[in-house]
Amino acid sequence: MVRDIGIHGNLFGGTMLSWIDEAAGSYAAQICHSPNLVTVKIEEVVFEKAVKAGQQIRIYGEVAAVGNTSITLSIEARKYNVYSTDESVVCRTRIVFVRIDEGGDPVPVPQLVKDRYNK
Ligand SMILES: CC(C)(COP(=O)(O)OP(=O)(O)OC[C@H]1O[C@@H](n2cnc3c(N)ncnc32)[C@H](O)[C@@H]1OP(=O)(O)O)[C@@H](O)C(=O)NCCC(=O)NCCS
Repeated sequence: MVRDIGIHGNLFGGTMLSWIDEAAGSYAAQICHSPNLVTVKIEEVVFEKAVKAGQQIRIYGEVAAVGNTSITLSIEARKYNVYSTDESVVCRTRIVFVRIDEGGDPVPVPQLVKDRYNK
């Protein structure tokens, strides 16, 4: 949307980061079978291509690592062309989430998740 565009006519980077954090957090919650996750780190973020108003963005993630209480996702945001269905990467990063209890302290990711991804 036009409201998401910065002064150079491109999507504002902070807006893209917000979308990535939200999408990745949702995916991490599904993987960990828990909504109680916080973002502890967003690694290097590379904005490879400009995004303009009206373009569609798809955000993809895959599990890069599962620790004791943390999960690291590799993220790609891609521009999607509705005519051709082509996709091209516009932004890449990795995000680390930590599973927490009600007091905000780290708690282990379920063993079945560790077993699934740490082979
Ligand atoms: C996430 C948080 C609970 C971790 O607390 P902590 O005291 O550092 O806990 P620990 O040292 O036991 O680390 C817990 C896990 O976080 C990981 N971690 C902590 N700091 C990290 C960092 N800078 N980079 C990557 N991983 C980190 C640890 O490696 C550990 O993972 P593991 O159990 O899989 O090995 C705490 O830092 C926090 O509440 N941060 C704020 C989160 C938040 O509000 N996010 C929203 C962004 S505004």
